[in-house]
Formats: sequence, structure tokens, C-alpha cells
Amino acid sequence: MQAVKAKPQVIFVLGGPGSGKGTQQCAKMVEELGLLHLSAGDLLRAHMKSGTPDGNMVAEMIKQGQIVPSRVTISLLEEAMLKGGKQQVLIDGFPRNEENRSAFESQTGIEPEFVLFFDCPEAVMEQRLLSRQAGRTDDNIETIRKRFKVFVDSSMPIINFYEQKGKVRKINADRSPDEVYADVQPLVRGLQASSL
Ligand code: ADP
Ligand code: C5P
Ligand code: MG
Repeated sequence: MQAVKAKPQVIFVLGGPGSGKGTQQCAKMVEELGLLHLSAGDLLRAHMKSGTPDGNMVAEMIKQGQIVPSRVTISLLEEAMLKGGKQQVLIDGFPRNEENRSAFESQTGIEPEFVLFFDCPEAVMEQRLLSRQAGRTDDNIETIRKRFKVFVDSSMPIINFYEQKGKVRKINADRSPDEVYADVQPLVRGLQASSL
């Protein structure tokens, strides 16, 4: 068995709410390519059930579509990376703003290999979120609109930051899951081949 090196290789998976990051594309990469998938949103949703003061703050921020301070999110990600023990990690839905991005870089010293950016029109994302049956407190039209605004104002600048560094792999996410995956798979396979 290959030893796990100190710093894993990380791919950030970004895109608007409902662009298909988690349920479709990351799930397929885990199944076929064996990476560890960490969804910042999933980790925060599990944490909010902890009943701690932090948990209650997270619950409220998710309901409002706001971005939780990175001290909470990064601790959850670091713990999960350590526990997962994999050399290649998909970090889905993070970094969401400049505070997330710079704190992750300075705390972990990890630079992403590249950023998968699922590009999807808002109208399509809105329809997907309204028909997602996951029982989430934020999948209602009022919060969805707030999340779109947060995405444009705070998360798009992060994608632009990585674009300037030549690290963004933009994928048209307004297609069937299989068509999207056909573009995603060779990018991740390429990374795996180059790190053998
Ligand atoms: P994200 O993690 O980017 O917020 P999800 O992966 O949870 O989005 O997808 C949102 C909803 O849209 C889910 O119900 C999912 O099954 C559906 N979905 C995802 N990708 C596609 C696609 N390419 N075409 C149609 N529906 C999709
Ligand atoms: O990615 P996902 O749609 O699961 O995120 C749901 C919510 O979780 C976001 O709207 C936000 O409130 C919170 N979140 C966050 N910081 C992140 C990722 C998600 O605050 N990096
Ligand atoms: Mg998701």
C-alpha cells in the first residue's frame, strides 16, 4: 500500500448552488476514480446538528445563505482530510469567498492542483434546487436568491482569482450528468496519471 504523504493533492470543485457538484459529479469521481470527496456544505450540515453554540450559528447562516467563518469550515475539512487518509481530495463548495481562500492557504499550506468550475445558468440551477428533495432549510426560493447573490458577489471573485493563475477548468454544467462527466473525467485522470 502506498504511504499517505503529508499534504494531499486537492481539487477545488466550485460552481453555483445546484450546478451539480455534489450529487452527480463528485459522486461519480469517487465511484470511478477513488478520490476522497469532502463537501463543505455537508460537513457544515452535520456540524449544525451538534447542538453546540457553533452548530446553532451554522444552522442560522445556512438558512440565510451566508458564508460561515472559515475557522469552523477549515477545522471540519482538516479533520475529515486526516480521517479520510487519501492522497487526492475533492473539496466541493469551498473556498466560497476570499476569507475561506486565504485562510485555507495559510493554515494548510495547500494550493489546489486545479479548480473544476461547473458553469450553469441561474434559471437551470433554480429549477434543480427547487426540485431537489433533500429536506434542506435553504432550498426555498427566498434563500436560493440570496445564495445566487452570494455566489456572484463572493464566490465568482475566487474563480476569477484562480483563472488568473491558469488553474480553472471550466465545464458547461447545463447538460446531462453523463455529458458533464465526460469532460470531467479526463481532467482528473490526467492528474492521477501525472502523480503516479
Ligand atoms: P450542488 O452540489 O452543485 O449544489 P447538486 O449536485 O446537489 O448541486 O445538484 C442539485 C440537484 O440537481 C440535485 O437534485 C441533482 O440530482 C440535480 N442535478 C445535478 N446535476 C444535474 C444535471 N446535469 N442535470 C439535471 N439535474 C442535475
Ligand atoms: O455547497 P452547499 O450548497 O451544500 O452549501 C450550503 C450552504 O452551506 C451555503 O449556502 C453556506 O451557507 C454554507 N457553506 C459555507 N461555507 C462553505 C460552504 C458552504 O458557509 N465553504
Ligand atoms: Mg452540493
